[in-house]
Order: sequence, then structure tokens, then C-alpha cells
Amino acid sequence: MRNPKVVAEAGKEPLLRPAALARRHLLSLHDLTPSEIEYLLTLAQRVKAAPDHHKHALEGKTLAMLFEKPSLRTRVTFEVGMGQLGGQVLYLGPQEVGLGQREAVKDVARNLSRWVDAVVARVFSHQTVLELAEHASIPVINGLSDFEHPCQALGDYLTLLEHKGRLEGTTLAWVGDGNNVAHSLMYGAARLGVRMRIATPAGYEPDRSALAEARREGGAIELTHDPAQAVAGADAVYTDVWTSMGQEDEAETREQVFRPYQVNARLMLAAGPQALFMHCSPAHRGQEVTDDVMDAPSSLVCDQAENRLHIQKAILLALLS
Ligand code: CP
Ligand code: NVA
Repeated sequence: MRNPKVVAEAGKEPLLRPAALARRHLLSLHDLTPSEIEYLLTLAQRVKAAPDHHKHALEGKTLAMLFEKPSLRTRVTFEVGMGQLGGQVLYLGPQEVGLGQREAVKDVARNLSRWVDAVVARVFSHQTVLELAEHASIPVINGLSDFEHPCQALGDYLTLLEHKGRLEGTTLAWVGDGNNVAHSLMYGAARLGVRMRIATPAGYEPDRSALAEARREGGAIELTHDPAQAVAGADAVYTDVWTSMGQEDEAETREQVFRPYQVNARLMLAAGPQALFMHCSPAHRGQEVTDDVMDAPSSLVCDQAENRLHIQKAILLALLS
């Protein structure tokens, strides 16, 4: 067993870190076991309840943030989170590094491994984050690729857990593009016993092999092209932008194709009064979601954004302390 770590807090059951989490990469929710995900969710709840408890945990550690794309939530929450744990961060935007252009991805990985303790990478191609991980001797965390957004999905399951009191047996409806966020939620759903109903236009379904994998691992995941069918009776209705970063050339076509998939008051009515609304943000108001749904009391978007902070801190503690 590598480096078992007990997080003990006054009045709480000690929380034993699954040994395999220490010093590992976090590239995909597919790589985590159900108990590792449950550990991260529990640790995030504890960190949220007692933020001061871990304020020296990562003293002397440095996190590099290697970003090929813009970000608000991921950047701010990793930076603030690392600071609250006593560590420091270094932001490296596209102008600084030129990943794979100014320098080979493997050379960037090898150099960073000599200076810092972990890397959060936000990349266009999932292959880039895999290549960074292959050549880095420090943990690499996927801060969004074109295929997955695992930190987002972990934060979202924390949010759903807080609002529903449980995850197993809940139903999450996904409406829109079968994209990176959908893939990570699918992998998480399979591990947490969440049922997913996914409504996409034809041709925009989630990746076929990701879907097959999630189903093979027990995921109850239904696909449909009918948003009303997907949302009926769901605990939460989740949508995301129709055009993800890197797909800007397709924006015009996508605006036409996705129009019937807008989450508006009519669709939330079809979902039922129990349905919460979720969006990873940034949201394009008036496209995939209307103002009234974004701003309704049933909207969890700000809680989702806040929980990114708590889950990032749990991830950093699990991988680095
Ligand atoms: N949800 C999310 O990852 O937001 P950013 O793109 O602003 O980081
Ligand atoms: N699917 C979106 C998520 C942004 C957080 C994108 O990749 O742009």
C-alpha cells in the first residue's frame, strides 16, 4: 500500500485515503473506483465544513496551471483552493508555453516535473493530457479536454448530493450536446448509481465507446432525441453550451440543430416541480438556457460553481498531501 493517509477531524470518523489516490494522475472519472469517488466527495464536504482545518496541508507545494483555453471557474478555484491549503500556483497560458508548438508536449511534461508538484492542464485534445501524464513524474489533473471534464463532474455530484441527500437512485437528465461534461458525468453516474437520460440531436450523442464503457460498468444510461422524454420526473436537468471551446467553426450549424433542445420554462414544466436545474457554466443565456431557468430558485449553477472550490481542494489534498 502506498502512503495511506488519515484525515482526522474533531468529532468525525477518520477518513482513510484510498492508497492509490496518492501521487496519481486524474485524467478521467473512468480511472477512479466508486470508493475513490466517494472518498473525494466526503473529503470535499469536510473541507467545505471546516476550511481552516487543512490550511497548512500543502505548504511548500507548487501547482502549475497549463491552460490552452480560457477559464473562469477552473482557474479561480484551483488558484484560490491551492492558496487556502498553503500552497502556491503558477498560471501558464497559451502565450507562455505553446504546448506542442514551441515545444514538444513530452518536454514540457519532463521540465515541469523538475520544478513543481502537480499540473492542472486544460487542453484542446484529450491526447495532449494523456501525453503530459505519460511523460510527467508528478500528478497531472485534467482541467478539461475535448473528451472529459472530470473535476466538473465531481463538483456536480457533490452539488447533487447536497441537494438530494443521496446520489444512488437519482435521475439526471442531460439535454443538448453529448460532450466532454456529459462523458465525465456518465462515467461518474455508472460508479455512483445515478441514472442518466441523455437527449441529444441525432449525430450529437455521447461518444459510442464511452457510452458502452459506462454501461458495461453498470451505468443505467438511456439515450433519446426527445428532451421532454429525458426530463420527465428527473431529479435534475443539466445542459451545457451547444458549441464547446474548439468547435467555434461549427457554431452556426449547431445553433440551428440544437434550438429544440433549449432548457426553458416549458421544458422545466415537463420535468416536474422536483426538478433542479444544472449547468457547468459558462452559460449562453438565450441559447441552451433561458434567463428565467438560470435565475430560478431551482437553479444550482452558483452552488455548482462554489463546489468546484471544495472539490478541487479535496482533489489536491488526495493527490498531494
Ligand atoms: N465550468 C468550467 O470549467 O468553467 P471555466 O471554463 O470557466 O473554467
Ligand atoms: N463543454 C464546454 C464546457 C466548458 C466548461 C466546453 O468544453 O467548452
